[in-house]
Amino acid sequence: MTKRCIITGASSGIGEALARELASRGWELALLARRGDMLAKLAGELPRAVAIECDVRDAAAVHAAVRRGEAELGGPFDLAIANAGVGVPSFAFEFNLSDAEQMVRVNILGMMYLFDAVIPSMIERKSGRFAGVASLAGHRGLPSSSVYSATKSAMQSFLEASRIELKPLGVGVTIINPGFVATPMTEKNRKMPFLWQAPRAAKYIASRLEAGNDVIEFPLPMSLLTRGLRFLPRALFDRMTVVYAKRKIDRSKLKR
Ligand SMILES: NC(=O)c1ccc[n+]([C@@H]2O[C@H](COP(=O)([O-])OP(=O)(O)OC[C@H]3O[C@@H](n4cnc5c(N)ncnc54)[C@H](OP(=O)(O)O)[C@@H]3O)[C@@H](O)[C@H]2O)c1
Repeated sequence: MTKRCIITGASSGIGEALARELASRGWELALLARRGDMLAKLAGELPRAVAIECDVRDAAAVHAAVRRGEAELGGPFDLAIANAGVGVPSFAFEFNLSDAEQMVRVNILGMMYLFDAVIPSMIERKSGRFAGVASLAGHRGLPSSSVYSATKSAMQSFLEASRIELKPLGVGVTIINPGFVATPMTEKNRKMPFLWQAPRAAKYIASRLEAGNDVIEFPLPMSLLTRGLRFLPRALFDRMTVVYAKRKIDRSKLKR
């Protein structure tokens, strides 16, 4: 049986690796991102994939991309993955509104535009799965990543509530919370504990998506650590993170 998947942010990193992994498992793919040349090259290397240049900050463009993908692949999507994302540091003492808007528009609204474009057909067919690539950084507000953390916890909340509503209608929703993965987004990071390579992350995600998991989190030590942070009393969390926050702020001031 044909399995069709649409994935945003497929031009690099986790999205690209996931496209390769899903293709190797027999999925037909619609690949979305802004860098059309990279998408076209990737699509050319996969058995059945269409490259669709699309900016996920544009709701109409996302809708058009979904309709084009369905037309070119010959049917509606069984799996939609909102993976496109932007992550840059953000500090309260030098707040950058334009960076913040960019993260909110791509990470949160970009996901919702895809959701809006694919969910009605999934409900009608009583089948399908919507997945969003959030992050372990969404489990608690992390100093130096306030906006990124906020967008990822917004994704988690949205996906969690949607999962509960859509399950009785036959539609699955999956929250994907990666820890550190080696991609263009993280290449400037200095320390990345328990770092995974993108193909390993893609294999892990793909097998659990196929199994219908509601939540996919990795690597286990980081998942346990960040989940543990959620239950720390506020005073203790503040005391533990203030040293880390000061180090990040000092480093940022030095760069200016
Ligand atoms: N790497 C990690 O450690 C890590 C950890 C947790 C979560 N994540 C999440 O994983 C997802 C993938 O990130 P990555 O690490 O693979 O980074 P990446 O290599 O920088 O990939 C980001 C992808 O998002 C796409 N994108 C960005 N803005 C877009 C826009 N306006 N419209 C359409 N596509 C857009 C980029 O494509 P174009 O530039 O071609 O548009 C690119 O394909 C993100 O949601 C990220 O937050 C990553």
